[in-house]
Amino acid sequence: AHPLSVGLAGLGTVGGGTLALLRANAELIAARAGRPITVTAVSARDRGRDRGVPLAGLRWFEDPVALATDPGVDVFVEAIGGADGPARASVEAALAAGKPVVTANKAMLAVHGAAIAAQAEATGAPLLFEAAVAGGIPAIKALREGLAANRITRVAGILNGTCNYILTMMRAEAREFAEALAEAQRLGYAEADPSFDIDGIDAAHKLAILAALAFGRPVDFGSVHVEGIRSVSALDIAFAGELGYRIKLLGIAERTAAGVSARIHPVMIPVTSPLAPVEGVFNAVAFEGDFVGRVLLEGRGAGAGPTASAIVADLIDIARGRHTPPFGMAASLLSAEPAVPITER
Ligand code: NDP
Ligand code: HSE
Repeated sequence: AHPLSVGLAGLGTVGGGTLALLRANAELIAARAGRPITVTAVSARDRGRDRGVPLAGLRWFEDPVALATDPGVDVFVEAIGGADGPARASVEAALAAGKPVVTANKAMLAVHGAAIAAQAEATGAPLLFEAAVAGGIPAIKALREGLAANRITRVAGILNGTCNYILTMMRAEAREFAEALAEAQRLGYAEADPSFDIDGIDAAHKLAILAALAFGRPVDFGSVHVEGIRSVSALDIAFAGELGYRIKLLGIAERTAAGVSARIHPVMIPVTSPLAPVEGVFNAVAFEGDFVGRVLLEGRGAGAGPTASAIVADLIDIARGRHTPPFGMAASLLSAEPAVPITER
């Protein structure tokens, strides 16, 4: 069958991992997708940089917008990052050309998701973003597919791998905050600006996306209460441990009588909680649905392999023509119920 030709913008942790995964598992991916999925064109800033993956034979684009709209590209994968700039420009250009988009960019979706979803719906181009929330955990597919029959009442979890890694290293290995953060950066877990991680902004971006899908409302990052882990000290962690608790950065979004409440903040959880053993770069997402009850998913929340796993799952859906409606937030699957405002902090 005709291969699906992928244009990949961004060749850092996520883009490089995606290229490596598509090559390593090419045969099984082709079997599951019904046709080969092949990266044919790429874009990054520095053409000379060694990325650990051979780029020979790939067309190189200086400008990701030109890549996104190139007639030889069937699907555009955005792995650049940033809510605006070249990431947003290239995604909008691809959608305007009616081209399917796969993105890992939670900042862009949390801030501009409603407008981008509307554009995708207007042009009929699929917009998939499994990698934008909780790395390798299929949280978006779980909400849209496996839990689609339920009224979701609560979404909670550990949504930032960098923070969970820092808190784990401070507790279990007595590392300094700055040292643990530097290690998370070296491992490719952190955002380009790591204050997005440690100030809770990245987790809030993900929670805003999950809440939009779970509660059928437009994505609204500005209404999420955000508090990060900068002020959590080694002493806090030690005292919590003596009392039988772990400190975790949690995201919680729930239905309330007044609407939806969404918040990110450090929480002391008992060591007996199912979230307590979720350590290091691992994330966990718990959904509560009216018929299914509680569902808990755990897995690596950041890094090349897990994020590539999510991106390629979306590419396989596109190759099969099985993708769900564009964003789920504007007019599709999960927004069948009336949207409710976030009213409570
Ligand atoms: P990196 O910083 O590792 O990679 C960013 C890539 O974008 C680089 O290859 C860079 O080029 C390229 N780039 C930057 N500006 C341009 C431009 N103007 N034109 C073309 N290419 C450009 O970031 P990550 O891979 O970590 O993150 C990418 C996205 O994935 C972000 O949205 C992030 O939030 C998201 N994400 C990251 C995860 C992770 O674990 N790291 C997990 C889930 C999502 P060059 O290499 O030449 O500098
Ligand atoms: N910086 C993010 C994290 C990447 O640490 O969770 C995954 O979205």
